[in-house]
Amino acid sequence: MKLFTLLSLSLLSLAAALPADTEPGMTRWDKRSNVWCVVTGKTQGANVHCRAGPSTDSKHVRYVKVGDLLRFTCYKKGECVDGNCTWDYAVGNIYGDEPKNCYVSGRYTDDLCTAAALGKC
Ligand SMILES: *[C@@H]1O[C@H](CO)[C@@H](O)[C@H](O)[C@H]1NC(C)=O
Repeated sequence: MKLFTLLSLSLLSLAAALPADTEPGMTRWDKRSNVWCVVTGKTQGANVHCRAGPSTDSKHVRYVKVGDLLRFTCYKKGECVDGNCTWDYAVGNIYGDEPKNCYVSGRYTDDLCTAAALGKC
């Protein structure tokens, strides 16, 4: 009984120690954004590089296609492409194959992928 009380008390203080800026039902690990954006900026169906880092020098991971709706979770500042210096991180199973996470230049994502909506990686 005593042990149980002690255990509950330490669990309670653990919960209190977690950051308070999460919504109810969310754990702190769920805080990453989840923003769906369309690939834009070239003709429909054209290939856009999705890269390992926020630069055109970074390794090519895969192509994404103009017109596709992809899920992004954050952005990094990097090489500017036509004046747009953000690179948006596309995650998960974006083409129904194995997950290949990579960065698309903000030049080629629609206006829902703002820095404010995504948050920094
Ligand atoms: C860069 O692209 C994003 C959309 O991906 C847009 O929200 C942002 O305003 C653009 N920034 C500039 C400087 O054009």
